[in-house]
Amino acid sequence: MSVSHPAKGAVTVNLGDRSYGIEINGSLEAVGEQLTQLGLGRKIAVVTNPTVKQLYGQRLIDSLKGAEFQVMSIEIPDGEEYKTLDWANSIYTALLINHFDRQSALVALGGGVIGDLTGFAAATFMRGIPFVQVPSTLLAMVDSSVGGKTGVNHPMGKNMIGAFHQPKRVLMDLGVLKTLAKEEFLAGMAEVIKYGIIADAALFDYLDTHRTRILDLDPDALGHIIGRSCEIKADVVAKDEREAGLRAILNFGHTIGHAIETLENYTMRHGYAVAIGMVTASRLAHEGGFCDSSVPERVEKLIKSYGLPTGLSALKRRPAPVEFLDAIQVDKKAEGGTVRFVLPKKIGEVVITKEWDETVLQKILSQ
Ligand code: NAD
Ligand code: GLY
Repeated sequence: MSVSHPAKGAVTVNLGDRSYGIEINGSLEAVGEQLTQLGLGRKIAVVTNPTVKQLYGQRLIDSLKGAEFQVMSIEIPDGEEYKTLDWANSIYTALLINHFDRQSALVALGGGVIGDLTGFAAATFMRGIPFVQVPSTLLAMVDSSVGGKTGVNHPMGKNMIGAFHQPKRVLMDLGVLKTLAKEEFLAGMAEVIKYGIIADAALFDYLDTHRTRILDLDPDALGHIIGRSCEIKADVVAKDEREAGLRAILNFGHTIGHAIETLENYTMRHGYAVAIGMVTASRLAHEGGFCDSSVPERVEKLIKSYGLPTGLSALKRRPAPVEFLDAIQVDKKAEGGTVRFVLPKKIGEVVITKEWDETVLQKILSQ
């Protein structure tokens, strides 16, 4: 499977009457004006957390007020542990107290936690109201704000309660990445590298050639890699919104990545776990005859060059291979008892397969 597209500054997710635009080079000051084009009601609630609110809340609120929206803000504490039904309920309560109706809209200002929670609240409040994503982390820009997966965590598992609900628009101000912690930026880079491996060899090469510009947050380089990532995700989502098949390629590296997150009790960042997962899956692909040895070598080299972990030595506790296999089995992408792996055939093309060898994986995991 492969996906190709030219790069540009704005991207459309083509989903019929639910199609929407992703603005890559926007500004917080222009959000109000942009939202006037969406036919929303006057009432808007900005959902954010204290960290992001302090940095960017006022600029966004001023922009919305300048476009004559009635704006309130809802604050959720900062952290994955607040992506819960209880905190979704706190959003519903604030909306009801303030007489929000089905025309009112939510704006998610933050990373993936705020985006997923706000999207879920929007999907469920009064059976669904519009929402807009204003992502403020690299991961949210290239992944979680696009594609309509919304949800909250359950004590028994991450993202176990959720809904597909597409945003009305995704608006990015790349300047906000300047305040993002380096580790958070690198975690997002793991997802960008993922897009290169699954769909775009030229993006993979660009990440190799322009590393310094990217790590220095050069606006043109960031615009290019974020734009290409969004184009690839938009294309996949347009073809397979509800993950009947193709969309699973976006989970490259995630089968092992989720197992690592579980075994590390969610103390390792998702992007870091996915980075190790991508190296492991590439080795599994080579051992299984899906690709030549240059693929795992190049994947490992690029991931390492971005300061991301490539192997299990990065874990706090080294689990036995059998613990890993157990953790993989509970991955919710398991179908009919068999786990499907996304494996590279070459840089820029992957297959989804149940044909992988448990003994080979055990061997890789014990190296
Ligand atoms: P996050 O939302 O927790 O943000 C990371 C940290 O960065 C937080 O402390 C946040 O306050 C801070 N922050 C955000 N923007 C900032 C900025 N501009 N400057 C300074 N600090 C800033 O983490 P994340 O990595 O963005 O998102 C992770 C979540 O995304 C997980 O819950 C995951 O399940 C979800 N996710 C969803 C999808 C999807 O398709 N819906 C895809 C991937 C991940
Ligand atoms: N993050 C994977 C997806 O949106 O399908």
